[in-house]
Amino acid sequence: MSKPKQISVRAAGCRYTLVCGAGVSGQAHRWLQELGPATGRFILTSPRVWRAVGPALSRGLRLRKGQPVIFMKDGEVAKTLQTVESLCRALSRAGADRQALLVAVGGGVVGDVAGFVAASYLRGVKLVHVPTTLVAQVDSSIGGKTGVNLPEGKNLVGAFYPPRQVLIDPLLLRTLPPREFRGGLAEVIKYGVIADKALFAYLEANIERILARDARALSHVITRSAAIKARVVSRDERESGLREILNYGHTFGHALESATAYRRFQHGEAVAWGMMAAALLGHEARITPAQDAARIIALVRRLHPLPAWPAVHPAHLLRAMGRDKKTRGGNLRFVLSPALGQARTYDAIPLPLVERVLRHAPHLMEPPAKIHA
Ligand SMILES: NC(=O)c1ccc[n+]([C@@H]2O[C@H](COP(=O)([O-])OP(=O)(O)OC[C@H]3O[C@@H](n4cnc5c(N)ncnc54)[C@H](O)[C@@H]3O)[C@@H](O)[C@H]2O)c1
Ligand SMILES: [Zn+2]
Repeated sequence: MSKPKQISVRAAGCRYTLVCGAGVSGQAHRWLQELGPATGRFILTSPRVWRAVGPALSRGLRLRKGQPVIFMKDGEVAKTLQTVESLCRALSRAGADRQALLVAVGGGVVGDVAGFVAASYLRGVKLVHVPTTLVAQVDSSIGGKTGVNLPEGKNLVGAFYPPRQVLIDPLLLRTLPPREFRGGLAEVIKYGVIADKALFAYLEANIERILARDARALSHVITRSAAIKARVVSRDERESGLREILNYGHTFGHALESATAYRRFQHGEAVAWGMMAAALLGHEARITPAQDAARIIALVRRLHPLPAWPAVHPAHLLRAMGRDKKTRGGNLRFVLSPALGQARTYDAIPLPLVERVLRHAPHLMEPPAKIHA
């Protein structure tokens, strides 16, 4: 095991550390000790995650028999205030006091819910994330956004609540289902596009090793991605501007998700399509050089198979984008890349360009023979 990398994240009034590296969860007990004494460690997780990582992580945490492991269901349907209530009640019954330490073990759903529980139980108790999906390792566990959904919409109730530490171990991803893994890789590609040309080139050269979950290659790209997210949120915790570049590919992606009632795509799969569309749009708008657009599309295509672009009318997708929070004054607002490794927001993208992209983008995953036919 090579030495874990420690990345510092700045949040309002505090700092916390991301500890990244293959095997760090096996040393979890030691890392948690750095946080000082706690009256108890309370694991919050889901049955499915715990089946996958529980045995190894219990050893890493030196969990003793009888130490509380509190379960919630995962999946987007479990991201509710009812789940928050039942977790808080379980903590209370298990005797968690103000010096308790909550350890959230799971993907973004467990992390977002457990984070909100940590922010509100007894007005705030210590929180550590042990993310177990690729999305959670490079995105949701970093930056302090926590929360749950309402029937009226996603993530409508929540809090900014930074964890004390995040233990990021790529070995925990071995059991992750392939679609979840590929979806997470889309977000990793995103970091290359928006902030790190060298990461992008590394992905181009090593995507097969990464898809095969080679521990070294995976550790490298996860650490780079986590560092980029850490840098962006350290500068802009409350999403006043810079943090917006993290939405590259997401305007199209959200429209695809919403037009298919959130059933067809795993989030990252929609973002993968969204990044190809954003590359094309960037090129149409004379912002993204042709060669960079081609490289983005070629790399994302290697995430195949993706569910096909849905057979919905472009006008329908445009309406879905119009509802997206990224619109201002009637103009469509997009994050685009003026060069690989850079991104910024463009406010006045003309509608006809977006319409053209929506007509062409559905063909971007077709085999080359068809494209040239
Ligand atoms: N807070 C943020 O900044 C932020 C950022 C991005 C996404 N999110 C949120 O994250 C959520 C999505 O998170 P996700 O993509 O991690 O999905 P998820 O938490 O729903 O996990 C996906 C599936 O993988 C399973 N799983 C998790 N780890 C596993 C493992 N190691 N082995 C086998 N199976 C495993 C889970 O049981 C689940 O069925 C959404 O609710 C989204 O809103 C939050
Ligand atoms: Zn995303």
